[in-house]
Amino acid sequence: MAVPDRVLTNVELTTMVDTSEEWILQRTGIAERRIAGEGETTFSLSLQAAQNALEVADADPARLDLIIVATVTPEYVFPATACLIQDALGAASAAAFDLSAGCSGFVYGMSLAADLIAAGKYRLALVIGAETLSRITDYTDRTTCILFGDGAGAVVLRASDAPGGVLSSQLGADGSGGELLMLPGGGSMHPATSETVTRRLHFLQMQGRQVFRFATRVMPEASKQVLDQAALQVADVSLFVPHQANDRILQAAARGLSIPEERMYSNLARYGNTSSASIPIALCEAVEQGRIKRDDLIVCVGFGAGLTWAAAAIRWTMPLPVPVPSRTMTFRRSLRYRWSRLRSLWRRLWRRIDARLFQVLYDSHGRRKRGRRDD
Ligand code: ACO
Repeated sequence: MAVPDRVLTNVELTTMVDTSEEWILQRTGIAERRIAGEGETTFSLSLQAAQNALEVADADPARLDLIIVATVTPEYVFPATACLIQDALGAASAAAFDLSAGCSGFVYGMSLAADLIAAGKYRLALVIGAETLSRITDYTDRTTCILFGDGAGAVVLRASDAPGGVLSSQLGADGSGGELLMLPGGGSMHPATSETVTRRLHFLQMQGRQVFRFATRVMPEASKQVLDQAALQVADVSLFVPHQANDRILQAAARGLSIPEERMYSNLARYGNTSSASIPIALCEAVEQGRIKRDDLIVCVGFGAGLTWAAAAIRWTMPLPVPVPSRTMTFRRSLRYRWSRLRSLWRRLWRRIDARLFQVLYDSHGRRKRGRRDD
């Protein structure tokens, strides 16, 4: 995982909008969130999280077959942030694309990658959930600005004959609820103009109460469905790792599943809602804190813009504590990252030379100039 250093506290928010520390804490469970500083972006946080994940998995980025970045705040509309990551990691043989499924994006991506691996198409995949929601948050709107934070988390999925890993997944969508949570500006409906800026259409808009009701219904439902698919029971689950949106949603989901709240992991107090990044960050911290042990059954479950929802049941077969990565591989990875920078620079330069050469050698119809003289 990777989060910015800058902390935005509830006290600071009280100086920005008409709210109180108690209201935010009581109604959401959030005490502080991380905010990207200058130069920190969805790409930079994604890259840091990706490199950390590759380190933990002790995997060679050159062997990656697939990179998915789940995000609603990509570096650019296009090219995909995943392609920037592919270039920076030197993952020369990886397919790369971004995935937009709101806060469910990470579980969507993980499920897709696991299915492609199970089908025998790929062997090594990197799935990143990353956001800089502060860049689309309206800090004059007290109903949304108290909720969101920035960060990234990543996982590496590897083909294996051993039983375990992602056992089942359940993805869903209901586009009729699209307007409940949206970023209206910047798309083909409202391309950027001075008017869209004045109307604040480039900021996230949300009907919180309705999203709240949807979330409390869908979280237990999706969790039960994914367990049914794997012929498992709620009682078999050691830990639920849910999307971190609001502690009251997590409490309602725990009630819906008839489990004690302790089995619903929460780090909302420190990071707020980081959308696609919230589940991988929570997963990472749960492992670090020893809340997940080897062979535990866990369920990741999310909901979000779309509307979408997603759940995955996972048997945690990764050795714990995480083994120290081999020195040779760590060295190879650091060389690979340096080499990737050089490779990228050289490719950009070569593209310019190539374009110049083309102008010298070919005419505007693409015919070779020397050939024309021969005619
Ligand atoms: N400070 C003080 N008062 C506030 C604040 C605030 N920051 N925000 C709202 N209020 C007021 C409202 O104006 C309202 O006042 P009124 O009764 O006089 O009209 C009152 O508090 C209650 O407002 P509600 O909207 O009913 O508050 P609620 O208890 O529903 O909490 C919240 C609002 C926190 C947004 C909640 O609805 C929620 O968490 N919803 C889910 C959001 C979510 O999970 N989004 C995930 C998607 S993220 C993604 O996909 C990018």
